Amino acid sequence: TTYNVGYIIGSLAKGSINRKLAKALVKLAPEKLQFHEIGFSELPLYSYDYDADYPAVANDFKAAIKRSDAILIVTPEYNRSMPGGLKNAIDWASRPYGSNAFKNKPTAVIGASIGAIGTALAQQALRPVLGFLQAPQMNAPEGYIQLTPGLIDDDGNVTVASTEQFLRDYMEAFHQHMARVLTVLPRDA
Ligand code: FNR
Repeated sequence: TTYNVGYIIGSLAKGSINRKLAKALVKLAPEKLQFHEIGFSELPLYSYDYDADYPAVANDFKAAIKRSDAILIVTPEYNRSMPGGLKNAIDWASRPYGSNAFKNKPTAVIGASIGAIGTALAQQALRPVLGFLQAPQMNAPEGYIQLTPGLIDDDGNVTVASTEQFLRDYMEAFHQHMARVLTVLPRDA
């Protein structure tokens, strides 16, 4: 089976190191996984005032998540949590009540930081959110990546062999996670 994986990058920065990490992960992933980016930069700030008449951009965002077999979130840590833009996007995806796009969606979270903590706290902040949304998340392995200069080159190649192997194993584990989840909770495209 081939799986369609949507990935969401938590950063809006042009030079995002998490975009770099995502590029490397796509390259190292098992062949059976196909990837497409799901962006959120066009979403306004969420309010439930929108629930009665959801904007097209938000419906499109939700549809892209629903169409995906699994979702990979690659996020930076901002001020010891997830970036506001990412949380806003997840709030959009979760509503209107009863139409949560993350429900039963296999997910995994990984991230890159310039610091040694490697987005650990951002990822820990994200876990209860995905839990509340009933998204079966991969608990382990965890991927806390300190993106030192040169670790990933402009073509998305990882220059340190042990890190490259770690990321390859991470994507293999994610593949197994989604296969397991989708066996019992098939996607309702
Ligand atoms: C940061 N950074 C950061 N790093 C970290 O490890 N823990 C943190 O809490 C924070 N906090 C933080 C807040 C804000 C507002 C910014 C802009 C940055 C540094 C962060 O790791 C660095 O900017 C990365 O480049 C962010 O990833 P992207 O956006 O380049 O993908």
